[in-house]
Amino acid sequence: MPLDEASKGTGPMSTGLGTITGGAGLPDWNPELDDVLVCRQVRQETADVKTFVFSARKPCLFRFKPGQFLTLELSIGGETIHRSYTISSSAARPYRLSITVKRVPGGPVSNWLHDTLKPGDEIRAVGPMGDFTLPETGAASTKYLFLSGGSGITPSMSMTRTLADLGEDTDIVFIHAARSPSDVIFRHELDLMARHAQRLRVAHTCEALTGEPGWPGFTGRVSLAMLQLMAPDLMERTVYVCGPSPFMAAVRSMLEGAGFDMARYNQESFNFEELGLDAQPSAPEAAPAEAAPVPEAAAPVAAATFKVAFAKTGKTIDCSADTTILDAARRSGVRLPASCARGLCGTCKSKKVSGEVTMKHAGGIRQREIDQGQILLCCSKPTSDLVIDR
Ligand SMILES: Cc1cc2nc3c(=O)[nH]c(=O)nc-3n(C[C@H](O)[C@H](O)[C@H](O)COP(=O)(O)OP(=O)(O)OC[C@H]3O[C@@H](n4cnc5c(N)ncnc54)[C@H](O)[C@@H]3O)c2cc1C
Ligand code: FES
Repeated sequence: MPLDEASKGTGPMSTGLGTITGGAGLPDWNPELDDVLVCRQVRQETADVKTFVFSARKPCLFRFKPGQFLTLELSIGGETIHRSYTISSSAARPYRLSITVKRVPGGPVSNWLHDTLKPGDEIRAVGPMGDFTLPETGAASTKYLFLSGGSGITPSMSMTRTLADLGEDTDIVFIHAARSPSDVIFRHELDLMARHAQRLRVAHTCEALTGEPGWPGFTGRVSLAMLQLMAPDLMERTVYVCGPSPFMAAVRSMLEGAGFDMARYNQESFNFEELGLDAQPSAPEAAPAEAAPVPEAAAPVAAATFKVAFAKTGKTIDCSADTTILDAARRSGVRLPASCARGLCGTCKSKKVSGEVTMKHAGGIRQREIDQGQILLCCSKPTSDLVIDR
């Protein structure tokens, strides 16, 4: 789209940061009507990280809150696979959106994207979705600590880019952990943004200094001392953490140990499996509920149990009417693709060949997919015997 078109128009856009105007009356991208994204550019960020820039087929605006993700639907080796990727671009630049993908050894989707996707290619996607986003009110005036490890940098990068684009001069301490200096994603852009924004402070920490002995940043893992050095007012900040599960677990226990108010702690995992089925990635931790006394007379009524057969693998499991298919499969040692385990990301979407379920999803499936017999295994419970095309 011509650049002058981008500067015309007045359509308002809600990003969670107030109203952004512009857009020449362009429609919003609506994946319900056309879910095709066209790859416009591929950028090599580091040796194993690439950014893919997309537009829709017809000019439109991408409205999203920084921190939200898309779920790609790809056909690889004759199979349909879903994977989620956080939008790494700025919500204040709505004509394009980008995702930034780290190559995972042996992973089907990240390697396919790296090796195959090129400008001009088309893929399908749904979203944006997710609630790992900036506060609904006072987003620009909140003081932040963004902590990320590896490819977990993408949500905080989108947040920082958006706030910088809006000229908010928000108080941000941005700390990123990488294996080595050459693995630091967006290093030069972050440095540049920090030069222009008075209250953005950026620090990287690397486990090894391979290739850059004069590295000016920290070395080693993120520590409380490092956080206190970068942010002496740590306790007043709102924290967003995203990275590998051990990284997030370490940060969490560090902050809990320091007496941080966990109501201002937000985390997103790219690998929900490791967190367990009940993980709620961006919800604040709830206090453990006290055990309610069990009335003596209330003998539990056993829920009906149904057979769930997986057509491709030939495996069959038992699943009770009060258990999700994903949960029952995991207990039986059957591996199924899943990420959020709460009906949001679409990774577990599967075709139901026969049988009935009740499904309580959170936006990870479209009505027309439901009409075609698709279900989300993580939030569907059987009400009859089932055959699933997996
Ligand atoms: C909400 C959400 C947002 C995400 N955003 C991003 C993003 O912005 N950038 C990105 O690169 N990935 C992101 N991911 C991860 C992404 O969806 C895929 O899981 C990842 O690209 C691997 O897919 P795969 O098919 O290649 O390998 P898979 O078969 O999915 O995974 C292979 C193995 O690698 C592990 N693994 C998965 N992701 C990673 C990772 N990022 N680093 C190290 N090990 C991993 C898995 O646990 C598994 O053991 C996100 C995931 C979720 C749920
Ligand atoms: S695992 Fe995310 S929708 Fe099922």
